[in-house]
Amino acid sequence: MKLIDTHTHIYGEEFDEDIVEVIQRAKVAGVEKMFLPNIDITSTDRVFSLCEKYKNCCYAMMGLYPGSVTKDVEGQLSEILAFVEKKDVIAIGEIGLDFYWDKDFAEEQIYAFQTQLDWSKKRDNMPLSIHCRKAFDEILACLKQDNRLKFNGVFHCFGGDKRQAEKVIEMGFYLGIGGVLTFKNAHLAEVVKEIPLSNLVLETDAPYLTPVPHRGKRNEPEYVRIIAEKIAEIKEISLDEVAEVTTENAFKAFQLQN
Ligand code: NI
Repeated sequence: MKLIDTHTHIYGEEFDEDIVEVIQRAKVAGVEKMFLPNIDITSTDRVFSLCEKYKNCCYAMMGLYPGSVTKDVEGQLSEILAFVEKKDVIAIGEIGLDFYWDKDFAEEQIYAFQTQLDWSKKRDNMPLSIHCRKAFDEILACLKQDNRLKFNGVFHCFGGDKRQAEKVIEMGFYLGIGGVLTFKNAHLAEVVKEIPLSNLVLETDAPYLTPVPHRGKRNEPEYVRIIAEKIAEIKEISLDEVAEVTTENAFKAFQLQN
């Protein structure tokens, strides 16, 4: 069985002690590839050093995370862009809008998102990993303004309703499904039940959003298998089918050769 964790921050300090074991455990669970979204200029070196060490297993995405945007958004973006131009990068991410905590830098966030959408557009529709929190309408407005027929990439940690799911799928995106699916009262289960498997990819967002029954502990790529099992249960299909289809979807979403 082959699984892909399409969104995981295993380059973080939380994994400094045991990254070798973490990757080993992931492989034993069938997780053969992990896609690493960048956060900001403090994490770029960590992302690339892990991807260079684990070639054909860890893949880098480069972008400026909305929660890290400051007044000096221009300076932040130019540093990130240099890496997009020089390094081996499979996607722009994670990028987007996050209005959950505050809206202090709302304007700068929107500017950063639009600019990074532009990077993707100029690079032959490079895949995107989109972070959307309390900002669905604003994200949609930016995507519409970008005026592209079809996007590549993933709406990471999708938390919207069925109507929103259909909207982003129509634009070319896949839905990233993670640990939230295992939480009690998650309306996400209903969405997952109704949306075809051909539109879903798996992710952990490790070290965050740890699935049940490990909630409260650090998340890691191995647990992407728990998400796959949960989807199989909800859709009443086999785990093998979930693995096969979501892995194929991940290759398509990130424009990689299988
Ligand atoms: Ni993330």
